[in-house]
Amino acid sequence: MNILVATEKPFSKVAVDQIREIAEKGGHKLTTLEKYTDVKQLYDAVADADALIVRSDKVTREVIAAAPKLQIVVRAGAGFDNLDLAACTERGIVAMNTPGQNSNAVAELAIGFMIYISRNQFTAGTGSELKGKTLGIQAYGNVGRLVAEHAKGFGMNIIAFDPFVPAEAIKADGVEVAATLEELYEKSNFLSLHIPATEQTKKSIGYHLLSRMPKGACLVNTARKEVIHEEELVQVLTEREDLKYITDIAASNQAELNEKFGKRVFATPKKMGAETAEANVNAGVAAANQICDFFATGNRKFQLNK
Ligand code: 3PG
Repeated sequence: MNILVATEKPFSKVAVDQIREIAEKGGHKLTTLEKYTDVKQLYDAVADADALIVRSDKVTREVIAAAPKLQIVVRAGAGFDNLDLAACTERGIVAMNTPGQNSNAVAELAIGFMIYISRNQFTAGTGSELKGKTLGIQAYGNVGRLVAEHAKGFGMNIIAFDPFVPAEAIKADGVEVAATLEELYEKSNFLSLHIPATEQTKKSIGYHLLSRMPKGACLVNTARKEVIHEEELVQVLTEREDLKYITDIAASNQAELNEKFGKRVFATPKKMGAETAEANVNAGVAAANQICDFFATGNRKFQLNK
């Protein structure tokens, strides 16, 4: 089978080498399309692909239409808002992700963000410490759980809200459970977002929640920009001169945010949460193994479009 790795933001060479080794051991051929600048390059590359590995690359209905042989697409990562699952299902294509494989990299970045913003983005001036502050975690999944674990080492108090995880399981980690989302925001000096971008969550973080945060609080976003109500973020940062926002996914209106709020906001130039050698290998290898296993045994364990 032909396995294509199509990554606008490429994996490390070490990860690609390991993906190739797994593919070839499974009797498959691996080709790569990296740092492509035009979606037409992707259309051309998928024409002969039986399997596709992507990162945040958009696998749209058009991409699928250009891939007549495609049987399986694996998003090497957690969030799968870049896959058109309905289009995959219509064509009988199995869509998967690799949950948990890059979680630690993202969790460590969230911790780094808190330190960076608390120390004035590493510029002169008096900063503050994480110790004794309350960290709110919205969505207690793979990443949220790790952020909580790491933050405990800094002496932070942790509180979480996740309607899909039993309260007892969260409490068992020594983490307080907020009864409501409003309570979570009211108590959090730092609020770390770990929700996926879905129809329900898009634009869900806005004035109603952010205006409840305590004095000097900071919203930390290593999830998706789409979950933020960007106009309301501007409104609340304007009204509340003490609030801060740090993100790994630049807002659509980031230039406006930078201009209006200066050092109270920060965005990485390109999403780097999962951009570590370890996460590249973990997610890439998992994707390659899942594809080989699917072709060899029909294993669909991580299938998203069931
Ligand atoms: C994910 O959903 O796994 C992360 O956002 C990583 O995305 P990336 O592979 O584009 O870095």
